[in-house]
Amino acid sequence: NKVIQVGLLGMGTVGTGVLKLLQKNGASIEQRVGAQIVIKKVLVRDLSKSRPLPVDAIMTTVVEDILDDPDIQIVVEVMGGEHPALEYMLKAMQNGKHVVTANKDIVAKYGRELFETAEKNQVDFQFEASVAGGIPIIRPLKQCLAANRIQEVMGIVNGTTNYMLTKMTRDKSDFASVLAEAQAKGYAEADPTADVGGWDAARKIAILASIAFNTRITLDDVYVEGITAISPQDIEYAGELGYCIKLLAIAKETPRGIDVRVHPAFLPLSHPLAPVQDVFNAIFVSGDAVGDTMFYGRGAGEMPTASAVSADIIDVARDICHNVASRILCTCFDEKPVCPVRY
Ligand code: NAP
Ligand code: HSE
Repeated sequence: NKVIQVGLLGMGTVGTGVLKLLQKNGASIEQRVGAQIVIKKVLVRDLSKSRPLPVDAIMTTVVEDILDDPDIQIVVEVMGGEHPALEYMLKAMQNGKHVVTANKDIVAKYGRELFETAEKNQVDFQFEASVAGGIPIIRPLKQCLAANRIQEVMGIVNGTTNYMLTKMTRDKSDFASVLAEAQAKGYAEADPTADVGGWDAARKIAILASIAFNTRITLDDVYVEGITAISPQDIEYAGELGYCIKLLAIAKETPRGIDVRVHPAFLPLSHPLAPVQDVFNAIFVSGDAVGDTMFYGRGAGEMPTASAVSADIIDVARDICHNVASRILCTCFDEKPVCPVRY
């Protein structure tokens, strides 16, 4: 039986979910792939921390144990932050390893460098979990909707703030306590300023817009406003007028260029995004051939995110098994003469 060995960089919320999922559904995954997927080593910061799974034998704090191990074919980066995660992914690719990541900070900022390095080293680079947790959206945009001219991508792409706004509206919870709840549930970023400040959503819409419009949209192109200024009175008045408040991420084609924005908005309660509650996210994509489509599901959390990361691992493992050359399908993230609206 074939075995494909994986190195996991990080074992927090997402890494733990990946380990659990590959263990739980290992038999059916092996059938689908034609090989057993084995996590050979897990990189952590602190070996003395108590872990929810018995991983003592495979834990390491030495990244070279993974990046220089010739038996490891896939490196999965779920440690977060820009550095050293970026350097680890680049080194993994240079060492001929395929890379899977959930890290939107890095894809939004260094996507081009990563694609170039992947292409140069003939390895795959997958990042489905970087946007909207468990919702399939990167692959549908890259592949399933590739024949369309996309006109608009719009929706709720941050689970933490949607969870907070839901609880602030439904239960009248205060901002600080509901943020603490979102952190305890594993939804928030290590620094939750990125969630509540709108930057996490901005990175995600920059990634989606780059793919949808086949161009390079950076964080500088995105107008960003988070939910920190939303008061209980705003929520109350919105309700009285028949509206709710949602943090929206929007990218659309305009005569002036691609307009990309993140900001809170009043939505009528009859709007299809109004019932998107708690950690759920939803994304509308309009294409000239397909018309309107909507993607909906859990946008953060251990198992939904593990679902997306594990799907990427399975995809890469299948290609390895069938000797398919790496498929770097993204021509986006290149500088192109498409003019984004600058804010
Ligand atoms: P997390 O719970 O903070 O876990 C981070 C893990 O990485 C920990 O195991 C930590 O080790 C390890 N780590 C961090 N820096 C390290 C370093 N310099 N060297 C060695 N190990 C290091 O983070 P998470 O919530 O799982 O998120 C991971 C990534 O997934 C982030 O990029 C995040 O944006 C993305 N993501 C998260 C979600 C979600 O719902 N949480 C959803 C989608 C995408 P220790 O355990 O020893 O501290
Ligand atoms: N902090 C992010 C969120 C995690 O709340 O949506 C998923 O990307």
